Formats: sequence, structure tokens, C-alpha cells
Amino acid sequence: MTDLLVTGSDGQLGRALLAEAAARGISAEGHDADTLDIRDAGAVREMVGWIRPVALINAAAFTAVDDCEAREDEAMAINGTAVGNLAAACDLTGTVLVQISTDYVFSGEADRPYREDDSPAPINAYGRTKLRGEEMAASAREHLIVRTAWLYGLGGRSFVEAIRRQIGAGAARLQVVDDQRGSPTFAGDLAAAILDLLDHGARGIVHAVNAGSTTWFGFAREIAAQLGADVEVVPVRTGDVPRAAARPPRSVLDTRRLESLLGRSMPPWRDALARYLEASCAS
Ligand SMILES: NC(=O)c1ccc[n+]([C@@H]2O[C@H](COP(=O)([O-])OP(=O)(O)OC[C@H]3O[C@@H](n4cnc5c(N)ncnc54)[C@H](OP(=O)(O)O)[C@@H]3O)[C@@H](O)[C@H]2O)c1
Repeated sequence: MTDLLVTGSDGQLGRALLAEAAARGISAEGHDADTLDIRDAGAVREMVGWIRPVALINAAAFTAVDDCEAREDEAMAINGTAVGNLAAACDLTGTVLVQISTDYVFSGEADRPYREDDSPAPINAYGRTKLRGEEMAASAREHLIVRTAWLYGLGGRSFVEAIRRQIGAGAARLQVVDDQRGSPTFAGDLAAAILDLLDHGARGIVHAVNAGSTTWFGFAREIAAQLGADVEVVPVRTGDVPRAAARPPRSVLDTRRLESLLGRSMPPWRDALARYLEASCAS
């Protein structure tokens, strides 16, 4: 029997989930859009009915935040509507649906970390589509919605890799926004937390990010320091770097529910970054 079906398995989190499952001896099957497009309700029903997994972890998404502004319908079809296909299929087989969501469902105006029961109020198209995905996931009888943030992982197009690329190209000075705060999160640590949450029978919404928070500027400075790079990192304001999508200024997530479920927090973000850089150099 296959325990896990992972959709979006070629993405940062999808890869990390399959690696973590393999390390734990959990049987898992992964599919990306080329073998299972989650927008195809019939294909989803057939695949889930055939595999009958204990849990389906949906790591598939349209994650290009700025592109979502001009392509909201396309993003909604993947991040929102398609999750309804997964929920319906999971209900036919008694499978637990695990939906991955985001800190960007919040406006970022709160002066404290967001709790699971705080009201979402997305300020960009990506956040709206991901919130619809949460609503669709919640229609499944057995569901777990894991909100994470600022994700990076092996094989991904992440902020860490963007900074590394610029340093590698010889940049002497990097301008990075210092008025957006969040929690950088390593996909390997998130995958471990998700499998632990499933082990503990967690349901409902859970926030899962590496411990601590910083700004993109603070994150970039730490990446440069850990790479031993001789580069000047300069703080700028969001308005100095125009982007298509608005970003929440402070989308730090409260992780006390995760801690009480697992009896541990996720590792600190700096430590996670060091392990990622080591693993990515080795691979
Ligand atoms: N990245 C972040 O900073 C971040 C932050 C918070 C939450 N999250 C959430 O965390 C989850 C994992 O993110 P990630 O960074 O691992 O994403 P990712 O690296 O962009 O991977 C997403 C994967 O989903 C695939 N996909 C897209 N459309 C699909 C479809 N219709 N059917 C099946 N697969 C499809 C993509 O394939 P293609 O590449 O071919 O399109 C890609 O392999 C997502 O739910 C995301 O919203 C991410």
C-alpha cells in the first residue's frame, strides 16, 4: 500500500517531501503536472482511487506571486478550484487531504504574529487564490491546512538562489527591501514537520515556519555572510523596488499550535539556512 501521494512533486516542497518520506521508510508516490494535472478532476479521481493513499499532500501551486496579478484566473484554477478536485477524490477513498497554504492570506497589518484563527484578508491575487484553496481543502472530510512562508529548497527558484546567483555573477552591491518581515523556511524542515503533524493526527489549520523572523534585507545579509561573500547589502523600502503584486509588510506566523501538537518548534531560520547551503553545495 502507498501511504502518501504528493502532487507538485517536482517543486521545492514536493521534492523535500519525497526525500523525507524515503528517509523514514514511508511509501510515497509523487506526480507533477506532466503526469497528474490537478485541474483534471477525472484524472485526480482515477489516480487517488487507484493508489488509495492514507494522505494526499498537495504541494502543487502557481507560485509566481507577481505573475498572479495579470493571470489571476489561471492561478485560481490551480491554487483554488483544483483543490476542490483533490478534496472530492480524497472523500471517496477516506484519504486525508493536506493542503499547503501561505502567510500571504493575511494583510500583514497586525502588530503581532498571526494565529490560525485570525481572519485572512489577502492583499494580492496570489493570496486570494491560496485562500480559495484553503476553503476548498476545508470541504474535505479529513483535512490539514499547513500555512508556511518564504520557502526555499533544493531544486527551486527561491530568494536564496536569486541572491546566490547575483553574488556568483560578481555583484558588489545588493539592494534589498527592509520593510517586509516574515520567516524564511527551509523545505526540508517543513517536510519533516508535515509528516510529524500527520503522525500526530493533526487536522484543521496549522502554521509551520522556521523559528524567528527577519526582513528580506536581513535574510540577504545572512545568506551573503554564510556564503562568505564580499558584497554590500543595502536596505531599501518596498516603494523603491516596484513589483506587480503588493506584499504584506509583516506576515509573521504564530506557531504555538504546531509546538503544542509536536512538542517542539521548527529549527531557527539561520540554522536551517546553513543546512540548506551545505546540502545544496553537496548536491
Ligand atoms: N515558495 C514560497 O515562498 C511559498 C511560501 C508560502 C507558501 N508556499 C506554498 O508552498 C507550496 C509549495 O511551494 P513550492 O515553493 O514548493 O512551489 P514550486 O517550487 O513552485 O512547485 C510547485 C510545483 O507545482 C507544479 N504545478 C503547477 N501547476 C500544476 C498543476 N496544475 N498540476 C500539478 N502540478 C502543478 C509546478 O510545476 P511547474 O513548475 O511546471 O509549473 C511545480 O513543480 C505551495 O502550495 C505554495 O503556494 C510557497
